[in-house]
Amino acid sequence: MKKKVTKAIFPVAGMGTRFLPATKSVPKEIMTLVDRPLVQYAIDEAREAGIKEFIFVTSRGKGALEDYFDHAPQLEQELRKKGKDELLETLQSTNMDSGAIAYIRQHKALGLGHAVWCARRLIANEPFAVMLPDDVIAGETSCLKQMVEAYAETGGNMVAAMEVEPQHASSYGMLDVAEDMGQLVKVRGMVEKPKTEDAPSNLAVIGRYILEPSVLRNLNQIKSGAGGEVQLTDAIARDIEQENNVYGYRFRGQRFDCGSKSGFLQATVAFGLARDDLRDDLQAYLQSVMQVDKAAE
Ligand code: G1P
Repeated sequence: MKKKVTKAIFPVAGMGTRFLPATKSVPKEIMTLVDRPLVQYAIDEAREAGIKEFIFVTSRGKGALEDYFDHAPQLEQELRKKGKDELLETLQSTNMDSGAIAYIRQHKALGLGHAVWCARRLIANEPFAVMLPDDVIAGETSCLKQMVEAYAETGGNMVAAMEVEPQHASSYGMLDVAEDMGQLVKVRGMVEKPKTEDAPSNLAVIGRYILEPSVLRNLNQIKSGAGGEVQLTDAIARDIEQENNVYGYRFRGQRFDCGSKSGFLQATVAFGLARDDLRDDLQAYLQSVMQVDKAAE
């Protein structure tokens, strides 16, 4: 029987240089989309998918992240005293059961593969999820939940996949497709950040993975790859060489690249428009901006 996926690794050690100067003192994962930090979206998605243990791979300067998932007795007491039950309620999703969350330091910035490898002792011999909080995915059913359901049928390794424009291949892990079954593709190879002309397809890996523990063992052995970093993509690709299955899963939902400023702004607008308390104001504002733009043309 296939084992249940109950652990997820969140690599959050990056310096977030694309968002300087903000990230000089605020971890990127704490930057807010509307009123919730990026990382909260990933945690909610993980919970919906049945994840019970949350492993953060962090680095120096990420203290705000640890505080965010801690209880805040003084704040809670204050809100209770003032009868602010709704606000108290919003804090609920930030509370973690004791022992459900772990923080591991990645001491050197050696790449995503290395970050995941740093968590190996907490995974042991079971499948696990990896979630990159930069990729925010909106949809009716959370992306990881869709994958967990598909994984229950397939086993093996699974990566979220999405078609991208050929000129963007160099920003992603790209899949070499052996068999296209529609929602699922069977993968025969993977290349991290290839040049457009070297990309084996236009199907890119998006930051959700369900992986076998063998990938962690592969990480023991592989050398640094694209960009001089230890790449998770290469460790998954090695599993194919060892005759383990790798699937790409075309998820339903809209993905925002919150690692880029433009993606972050788009997500802010989309999540703002999705909120009953903000929609009308925001819509009116966007319409007025569009009209001014049109008039100027
Ligand atoms: C990482 C992975 C890459 C994947 C991407 C998805 O790259 O290495 O394979 O396609 O996330 O967002 P990064 O964006 O961290 O450079």
